[in-house]
Amino acid sequence: MSTSHTGITEQVLTYRPPHPPVKEFEPATDRAFFADPEKKSLLAAAQKVRNLTPYIGTELVGIQISQLTDAQKDELALLVAERGVVFFRDQDITLDQQYELTKHYGIQDRDPNQVDPRHVTILGRNSDIRAYADFGGEYHSDHSFEANPPAYTMLRMIKTPDSGGDTIFTSQTALFDKLSPTFQNLFEGLHGVHSSEHVFVNSVNGGNKPFRPPVRREHPLIRTHPVTKLKSLFYNPTFVIHIAELKGQESIHTLGFLREHLHAADDLTVRWKWEPGSVAFWDNRVVVHRAIPGGYDPSTREGKRTAIYGEKPFFDPSGETLSQRIQRLGGETAKGEVVKLHFNSPQV
Ligand SMILES: [Fe+2]
Repeated sequence: MSTSHTGITEQVLTYRPPHPPVKEFEPATDRAFFADPEKKSLLAAAQKVRNLTPYIGTELVGIQISQLTDAQKDELALLVAERGVVFFRDQDITLDQQYELTKHYGIQDRDPNQVDPRHVTILGRNSDIRAYADFGGEYHSDHSFEANPPAYTMLRMIKTPDSGGDTIFTSQTALFDKLSPTFQNLFEGLHGVHSSEHVFVNSVNGGNKPFRPPVRREHPLIRTHPVTKLKSLFYNPTFVIHIAELKGQESIHTLGFLREHLHAADDLTVRWKWEPGSVAFWDNRVVVHRAIPGGYDPSTREGKRTAIYGEKPFFDPSGETLSQRIQRLGGETAKGEVVKLHFNSPQV
């Protein structure tokens, strides 16, 4: 990426996006509230339930998401809220069916660069993850700068390279939990300033036509999940440019710490290798992700992403950290090397 793409060029000064910013609204009740807490009908339908890591990521084997009942769809939302991301392989679902399934969970979100209102096409990238102003390979939660950032988000890959193009997901619930109580107390009540300005500038300079103007919004740095009531970090290095309550250098160093905290969290992370027909369904409110670019032919990777608008992020001080939840429900049970985390259901 050329560094000229990062500045205010003539193109940027003259470009007028056709749509206004999306206004804040109150979405319908999260479908996970309607789920059987034990998720019996969903889990019973799976041949295998594989928890890929202790803290994040579950693969359901032997389920076609195109065939889910409404009860199973609601239970899937709860499983996604609890495990951060749920994976499937060999799915037969079509784009129309994916769109319909997404609508079960809420109002279809629209990315500022999204051409088709029903989905975003995700392509391969051959860029350098370490290049200046290359935002594509950095951790993010999808357009966190919106008033109602996405909640449940689905990516289905149609074609994938034999090697490369993996996606890494990291639990922000666990990231918050792993902070010391002193840092937890410090961060609760602060607000991240999320900006799409740099992405907008790069997008216009790259010849794209974003639909909406750039925005800058404050969200709680620690948010509470409406369903699990767990406290979670709501930070990502792609869009969070400042912490509202801090002075300049305080914010710069705090953001530097948070980025290191995130990048060092291999224990709170799952790395997913895609195949054609693979699906990841994640909760964008409590998970950050990054698609690993480079090392493969970008034309061999294509997927379809759908998402719904989530609630305006909020912080409820009466929520629990993950450790507090585990303790309240009877402690952390180590079986061999697998730590079983108890959320709403002992089966997860
Ligand atoms: Fe993304």
